[in-house]
Amino acid sequence: MMTRLSFSPRQLILCLCATLATIASVGTSFANDDFQGATHMMPFEEDTIGYGERQDTSLIARLQEAIDAGEVTLDFKHDGQGYLLSLLDHLNIPTESQLLVFSKTSFQRHKISPSTPRALFFDENTYIGFVQGSNLLEITAVDKELGGVFYTLEQDPDKKPKFVRTDQCLECHASSKTMGVPGHLVRSFEVDEIGIVDLITGTSQVNHRTPFEDRWGGWYVTGGHGKQIHRGNLFGKAAFEKQKESPNFRGNLEDLKEFFNPSPYPHGTSDIVALMVMEHQGHMHNFITRMQYESQLMLNAYGHLKYLKHKVDAFLRYLLFVDEAPLTEKVGETSAYAKVFAEKGPKDSKGRSLRDFNLETRLFEHPCSFLIYSEAFQSLPKKLKDEIYTKLWKILTGENNQPEFEKLTVESRKAIYGILKETLSDLPDFW
Ligand code: HEC
Repeated sequence: MMTRLSFSPRQLILCLCATLATIASVGTSFANDDFQGATHMMPFEEDTIGYGERQDTSLIARLQEAIDAGEVTLDFKHDGQGYLLSLLDHLNIPTESQLLVFSKTSFQRHKISPSTPRALFFDENTYIGFVQGSNLLEITAVDKELGGVFYTLEQDPDKKPKFVRTDQCLECHASSKTMGVPGHLVRSFEVDEIGIVDLITGTSQVNHRTPFEDRWGGWYVTGGHGKQIHRGNLFGKAAFEKQKESPNFRGNLEDLKEFFNPSPYPHGTSDIVALMVMEHQGHMHNFITRMQYESQLMLNAYGHLKYLKHKVDAFLRYLLFVDEAPLTEKVGETSAYAKVFAEKGPKDSKGRSLRDFNLETRLFEHPCSFLIYSEAFQSLPKKLKDEIYTKLWKILTGENNQPEFEKLTVESRKAIYGILKETLSDLPDFW
């Protein structure tokens, strides 16, 4: 089948926006790191990917089927949270993953402020947004081939729960900031007293490479981090000024009662470790989707993936946390999220897992993304996965000593190799 080369009018607009955004971001540190500069929009509405037409097979689509078949019911609570807890429960998403963002940066921005932050909950398959006083839950489901798929759920106890797919979310969730594919966003800006962002102060794409001091503008942050400075818990000019004289006057907080009433939320926290995991995985998900789309388009056009080879290196650099911003002190010692997350495994015979935290010099003890086990990674075309596994094997066994990967220590390489060999089922025989 031939790929049509024409773009829909909306895509042309998206493309133009992405190009302008890329031009605007030239000179910032992330510009060329992410996909070797390839942040342009992918033609995902065209036949090959068929984003808009294809039904997703995400956990949300599967949950809807179970609800329609009468196998599952969602419990509605009349305390303002509606379906939230029941939905999290059915999806096995820990409430401890709760994050709170108060910048007016998203879909229901008029309802979001420092006194009414938006709560996010997530795991490796789904992200849920809860806004106080809203009749909609916002959901990003990760589909194994389509990437981020967007849904809303109306909070109405009198109607059977219906997840409505809403591609209108792509207005923000598919741009140069999501690697040109439908995906996830994390940003950091200075905000005023009511949560309006000051765009010129921004880091518009936060991931594990973002230095600590640039993170969490517009977000609440709970948990210890020693003397390391960040932009969380600050709103209004005065607070940012004060931060310069008394760094961390709003750092190392265990609760947020001084800023808002926590009772509408499952927890009063916005866990620092959960924030760091979300920032790693949001970008990792986007990267996996980008690789999926690139390979589908290339296989369709040429029948091979030769032109994608050099991008495998960039992908592995992110997967292996090579350019991760280092920690200089302990982070999140009291994190409730860290415990729940680490328990999930899988563990090898030595009890090690890619979900083990380090939290002293880096995020994870064994720096290789746990998303390697995800359906999305596992569903990459076999030709691409073979390429990734071959290169990964070379890096981990030391056969490949490219300077790009030299930050990865011999111990880390050995441990990751050992863990993957025992816990990843589809590795090629030469592993
Ligand atoms: C005006 C831009 C905008 C629109 C439109 C938008 N979002 Fe977002 N979304 C954001 C931003 C920015 C973030 C990052 C967190 C923040 O700043 O609140 C985000 C984060 C999220 C997250 C958390 C993690 C992730 O997946 O990025 C979810 C879930 C989400 N949005 C769902 C939705 C859904 C569902 C829709 C459509 C009904 C939607 N959003 C429409 C801007 C938008």
